[in-house]
Order: sequence, then C-alpha cells, then structure tokens
Amino acid sequence: MSENTNAAANAASPDTFTAGTAATPSYPGVKDLTLEEKAGLTSGGDAWHLQGVENKGIPGYMITDGPHGLRKSLATDTGDTNLDDSVPATCFPPAAGLASSWNPALAVRVGEAMGEECVQEKVAVILGPGVNIKRNPLGGRCFEYWSEDPYLAGHEAVGIVEGVQSKGVGTSLKHFAANNQETDRLRISARISPRALREIYFPAFEHIVKAAQPWTIMCSYNQINGVHSAQNHWLLTDVLRDEWGFKGIVMSDWGADHDRVASLNAGLNLEMPPSFTDDEIVYAARDGRIQPAQLDRMAQGMIDLVNKARPAMSQNDYRYDVDAHDEVAHQAAVESIVMLKNDDAILPLAADAKVAVIGEFARTPRYQGGGSSHITPTKMTGFLDTLAQRGIDATFAPGFTFADEPQSQALTDEAVAAAKSNDVVLLFLGLPEAAESEGFDRESLDIPAKQIALLEAVAAANENVVVVLSNGSVVSVAPWRDRAKGILESWLLGQAGGPALADVIFGEQSPSGKLAQSIPMSIFDDPTMMNWPGEEGHVDYGEGVFVGYRYYDTYDKPVAYPFGYGLSYATFAIADVAVTKSGANTAHVSATVTNTSDVDGAEVVQVYVAPGKADVARPRHELKGFEKVFLKAGESTTVGFDLDERAFAYWSETFDDWHVEAGEYTVEVGVSSRDIVASGVVALDGDGKAKPLTEWSTYGEWQDDPVGAKIVADMEARGRAGTLPRLPDTDIVRVFLKTLPINSMPMIKSDGGKELTAFLLDEYAKATAR
Ligand code: BGC
Repeated sequence: MSENTNAAANAASPDTFTAGTAATPSYPGVKDLTLEEKAGLTSGGDAWHLQGVENKGIPGYMITDGPHGLRKSLATDTGDTNLDDSVPATCFPPAAGLASSWNPALAVRVGEAMGEECVQEKVAVILGPGVNIKRNPLGGRCFEYWSEDPYLAGHEAVGIVEGVQSKGVGTSLKHFAANNQETDRLRISARISPRALREIYFPAFEHIVKAAQPWTIMCSYNQINGVHSAQNHWLLTDVLRDEWGFKGIVMSDWGADHDRVASLNAGLNLEMPPSFTDDEIVYAARDGRIQPAQLDRMAQGMIDLVNKARPAMSQNDYRYDVDAHDEVAHQAAVESIVMLKNDDAILPLAADAKVAVIGEFARTPRYQGGGSSHITPTKMTGFLDTLAQRGIDATFAPGFTFADEPQSQALTDEAVAAAKSNDVVLLFLGLPEAAESEGFDRESLDIPAKQIALLEAVAAANENVVVVLSNGSVVSVAPWRDRAKGILESWLLGQAGGPALADVIFGEQSPSGKLAQSIPMSIFDDPTMMNWPGEEGHVDYGEGVFVGYRYYDTYDKPVAYPFGYGLSYATFAIADVAVTKSGANTAHVSATVTNTSDVDGAEVVQVYVAPGKADVARPRHELKGFEKVFLKAGESTTVGFDLDERAFAYWSETFDDWHVEAGEYTVEVGVSSRDIVASGVVALDGDGKAKPLTEWSTYGEWQDDPVGAKIVADMEARGRAGTLPRLPDTDIVRVFLKTLPINSMPMIKSDGGKELTAFLLDEYAKATAR
C-alpha cells in the first residue's frame, strides 16, 4: 500500500485500515524517530491538525468536529474558535433526534455520508459521536448525546462509528467519561460509585469499543472521583485498553490536558489543542518521569492512526453527492420525529386541509444545537419553505419572537385570527437557540411562558391544534398538553427538517420515533435533582444506577411520556412471545409483530430484563434489546433476540466484576418501558461467584453459603449433642443471629460464643483449603 494508492474510499472497510504499521512496513515507526519527534507526535500541530513529522513522511492530518456533520473551520490554522465559519457540510439531525429513530442501520448511513464528506475535505478524524448519558434533561449537551439509557446509546451510536470508519476515516468517541453537565465542566469532580460507572456511564463506550474499535477516543474535561480524565490511568489504560481491548488513541478534549507528563503516563496519546510544551515530554523522558516504552506506545499509536487514514487522505478529487446526503438527512429527520399525542386522529392532515401555520420555528427552524458542533449546512429547508415547494397553501403567522422580550399583542392577535380562519392549526413551539447550548445547563424544563400563553389563545380560537416542538432536550409538556390534540416532538432535525415534518404531517410517512429520554411530569421528579449540578467543585451521583426510567419505573413515578414511547399512524400487535433459556445464564426471546392497520409503518420491539430478588438494589427493569421493524399494511414478521450473560448481570463492588445471581428473571417484550405486551420467566444458574466467608460475615451469610451452611449445620448438631456450646433456640435469637457478624457471637452466648466463632472459621479454612 503506498501513499498514492487510490483505495476507493467508498469501498473501504474498517478492516482495511486497522492493520496500522503492520500493513504499511514502509512507513516509519517510533524506532525511526528522535525523542523530540516522538514527543511532538503527542501534541497537535495546531487547533485542528495533528503534528506530523514531515521529513520522515508522517503527515499532520486534520481532525475536527462532529458530531452530526462536519465542522471544518475556514480559519483552520489560527487556532481561534470561530464556530460560525465552516465549509458547508450536510447537517444531519443531532443525536437527540437520531437517537429517537431507534435505528442503528440509519445511523450507519448517516456515518457513511459523514465519512465521505471527511474524505472530500481531507479530515482524517471527525470528533464524535458523543455518547455520554443524559443524566438530567437540563444538561446543556443533551441535544448531542443519545439517551438516558446506555444500551440504547451504545447500540445506536455504534452505527455512526461503523459508517464513518467504513470510508477510511476515523471517529472520536467522546467524552470519556461522565461529562453529564456543563456547569463547571472543566473542573467538576463527578463522584460516582464503581457500580454506576460500570452500569450507566461506561457501557455505551464499552460496547462501541468492543464492537467497532473507534480509531480515537476523546477524554472528558471533568474529574471522576477526584482525578481529571486526561490523567486517569485506571480509566484510560486499565479499563479502556486492558479490559476492553481498545486499540486506538486517546486525545484530550480541547484544553482538558493539564499535565502532559501525568497524562501521557496515564495513557493519553494526544494533547489538543497544542500547548507547545513538547519539551516537557522530552525532559521527562530524559529524567525518567516517563518511561521510554510508554512514550513509544503513545507515539506509535499516533503513527498507526495516521497510517490508517492515509488511503482516504490521499484521494485528491473525491466529491460526495450533496443531494444524496441531503436525502439521508431527510430520512434521518423523518425517523427522529416522535408523535406524542394524536387525539381524534387529528394527524395526518389531508393535503387540502385549511391550515394555519403559527410559530417562528416554522419559518426559522431551529435545526441544530449551539457550541462546537455548530455547522454550516449545504441546504436548509424549513417547514414553510417545504409547503411553498410542494404548493401547499397555508396561512402563516410568526406568533412570537425568539428574543427574551414580552409578548407582542399584535403577534398574538394575528395568530388568533389565523387560527380562527382555518380548520387546523400547526403551532410550532420550542426552545430558542439562546436557551440551550454546549457551555451551560438549562435552569428550567419549560418553554418560554409567552409561547404557552400563545397556545392558550390559539386553542381558545380553534380546538384543532397540533403542537410541533423544536428542542434539543426534553421540555415540560404536562402543563399544557391538554390544549393540543396532537403533539409532535421533533427535537432538532438538521437541514432537512422541513420536508421531514411535511412528510409526517401530511401522512406520506408514518411517524416511527420513540423516546430515548423519559419526559417527566416535572423536573423536580428527576432523581438527580438533589445532586444537580453539584457544589464546591463536586457533584455526587447519589441516585446511583437509578437514572431516567430506571428510577421512574422502579419507584412508580408518573411520567408525562415514558422511555421508548412513540405513536404511529399504523397499529401493531405483538404476539407469540417466547422466552427460553439458551444456556446457564443466557436466554432467547422471539415475538411476532403484525401491522394490523391499512397504512405502512414501523414499530420498535423492546426487550427489558427484570431481575427477581437480588443482593443489591436493582432497577425494576432495563433495556437489553430492541429492533425496529418496518411493516407494510397487514404484514407480519418474527423478531428474535439473544440475551447474553451481561444482560442479566449487575456490577458487584464485592467481586469488582459483573455478577449474575442464580434465580428467576422476567424477560419483558414491549413498546415502551411502560407498555409491556408480554413476558416470560427464565431461571438462571448464576455465575457461581461467592464471597469468601470471614469473621465479619453474618450468621445468615454463613447459612446462605453452600460451604458455610454445612459447617453451621454441623456446629448446631454438635451443640445439640453437647460437644460444642449450644446457641439458645428462640425466635428472637434466630432474628438477631441472621444479621450478626460471627465475631459477635459472644453477644448471644457469652460463655461459648468465642469457641463457636473459632469452630466456624477453622472448619471453613479446612473446607476451602481442599
Ligand atoms: C468540546 C468537544 C469538541 C472540542 C473541539 C470542546 O470544547 O467539548 O466536544 O470536540 O471542543 O471543538
């Protein structure tokens, strides 16, 4: 393979590019570099480029945002942050939208398109996807994260990584880990239990690393339990590389590396943007604060990355198909829309319905979020534009302005007049751009009060109101939803949101989005609110694993709309649900889905696992599988899911490992976390892990342990036979004993308790030594 090999980017498979230096022996490796050159590779050349070693044939390729399209800054070499000035690129729906598609294959298509745009623009790595958990809907970056559920986030966003990388371009899975808020994001220490990290904050990263090997990972700004991610050896090396087998490089978030030596030792390959302190690495390597092997590993990772990108970066006249990518953005937008309400089947509208379109969002769409992901679209088609293009007549009234200023009576009057003189009102409401962005968290879940006042006025004039929402993260709907017969949650839909909405509203496509985020009745119901957004430099993740529906469903909290929910114009029936044990700790689930209506549509079959009695507090149920099925009117299909051991496990802090307890588990099949259609029970063997018994184990734990139980029985028999002291045999003693560490037995039997403790420990030592 030579630098000029014009490996067709479109045909490139990830495998073609994973070989690194092994497949490209003619390229230099670390052994060919000076100490200074190796040090240089571990920092950028400028804000958006790697630092090459040009005289040795290592180019300084460009890497840039991401994540829902390419943001290639026009002033790339200045290092200045100018978020509004970038080359045109297709603006796909940000993750808040795409996540609602529950369609990983669609994410692959979006990824492929983004990869092709990177090839044209000579960008070696696109900085995304971001798969942090939406811990609290107020989080400023929820619009570019996927879900409150790690299984969903990982199994959808993996498509972006596969798609981009199939074009010979890298991704940067970010922000590893626990960037769940913007407040104090560069300094805050997220105090998280090992269990919550493993069950909630890691799995999306873990799945994507194992399934798709992203070429790069970007560490987060924040600290986790007192250690900045860039300097966290446990995070970047022990977990990411040694446990999960990550083969790529880790880069810092922009400005997240505060100590280059410590970071490099922790496993950070690349500091971005450069602080121009490569000499620190050189000195540290000379005086032994960095071991030569570690510097070689980090620098070789950078060389491998460059080598993987070479074929795609060597294509000089590649041009992507702008219209085809706009079409991908269009379909992605259609599947991002979630229909929350459709009373009286108000939707879809007939093509000749007399419609009033009210709300500035219909004319000036809010189609992406603010901050580093802000891109310049290749096209922009709002809803009003689409109506005009399709020759659909409608009365438009802006209704309100985006500015934070009092409502104008004239705008209200105009909107009410439009509502009165038409049969149906499409009322576009939502969060103005200034209300949510990277860089700050929202303070309220509400949309501006003047928009709700407008809804009241319009609904009083015409009862046929359909609200179309534009927002990057959940907004409260409970206070006003009774005023609308229909509600479409359209998130941020990217550049083709107008045609996508028109398709759904006029029934050319059935809505098929499902919520990737619960919509609570009130933000004060959210389990994280007591610890949001932290204080004095730290935030306690006190809710543990009970994030989102894991909390609402376990503790029976009403929600406005549950996780996984979304309506369609079609109706579906799920039948023949069969749950069978397929191994000691695995199961298989199958179900038949039928479109019982006369319109085409898609349903998302969701599989949740509900553990039985457990040694730790477990959520009532957790998503462990899903599949979106597209069915024509009347059509049927069968879906199947293999649930592996992990689907039943929790992270045990005792074993410092995943643990499946023996016992019964209910496997549920449904269409939202609150709409379980059928379920089956499997009795699993358990993984056999047992905690060693000690003097601090309780009498009850001794009785529950297979080895301990025999020794206890023997001890009690000897007590009855008079060869050992005998414990009093009363109900209250039995109650006390259950929770009594055995070293406290003198509390129960003052004269012989010590002898009994010694007997148990001696016998256990003998039994376990064998
Ligand atoms: C953001 C990253 C982004 C980087 C480069 C940072 O502020 O957190 O997501 O990729 O800037 O723009």
